[in-house]
Amino acid sequence: MAASSSSISCSFLVLLAAVAAICALPWLPPSAAATAVSGGSAHRHLTAGFTRVRLKESQFVVQKPYDVPLRDRYKESGGVRIMWVFATDKPISNTHPGGARTEIKVNEIYSSGVWQFEGDMFVPSGTSGASVMQIFGAATHATTLMLHVYDGKLTYYHDLSRVIADRVYDRWIRLNVVHDVGAGKVTVFVDGERKLNATGQGGTAHYFKFGVYKQSHHQPSHRMESHWKNVAVYTKK
Ligand SMILES: *[C@@H]1O[C@H](CO)[C@@H](O)[C@H](O)[C@H]1NC(C)=O
Repeated sequence: MAASSSSISCSFLVLLAAVAAICALPWLPPSAAATAVSGGSAHRHLTAGFTRVRLKESQFVVQKPYDVPLRDRYKESGGVRIMWVFATDKPISNTHPGGARTEIKVNEIYSSGVWQFEGDMFVPSGTSGASVMQIFGAATHATTLMLHVYDGKLTYYHDLSRVIADRVYDRWIRLNVVHDVGAGKVTVFVDGERKLNATGQGGTAHYFKFGVYKQSHHQPSHRMESHWKNVAVYTKK
């Protein structure tokens, strides 16, 4: 099965990365070595002043092609949520106008304040033409932010001139997305570094989404997949 073989190769890559990190340690200065080992905690400054929202598992609502069982598009193992979808898949219901997706809606709706999404994302090489993360809700269209992947680049919507991160395939990256509703501002951080400033799009009800959602731009790949761990939501009133 494609899903299990990709998770095996994923585990293998993680193992390789761990071995590489351990081998590299003696040659790194202490601060770099600490960063390599501590991972997410290196980016704690981004959530300073925010309160973590206590999310229940039932608030992670998986949307997937309506005609296939969940296990054919979603897997959770060892704290990692894996979602995949095929370009030819059906929408989430037989009346839904949207395209193929396997996506989690974080069912925590907000309309004011400052909100932050945080998560570690892994996109296997080959996935292209997919949205991997969204801030849902806007005044005139569906979203305030979409992060797409095209040929290993993480972009602002399908704008290939607004590259947020390069070479995102086959490695974990830490995403922090801050939405200041009142100020109408969106900021995206990758591995703790500010990579995108964008404007809000209005709207009165928002929530975060992550996974894979086929886009019609730049020739989507047949299979799209993303893996997620340590997903958290924070807020500041
Ligand atoms: C975002 O805006 C800040 C100032 O508000 C600026 O320092 C920073 O360079 C900008 N970053 C990007 C990626 O545009």
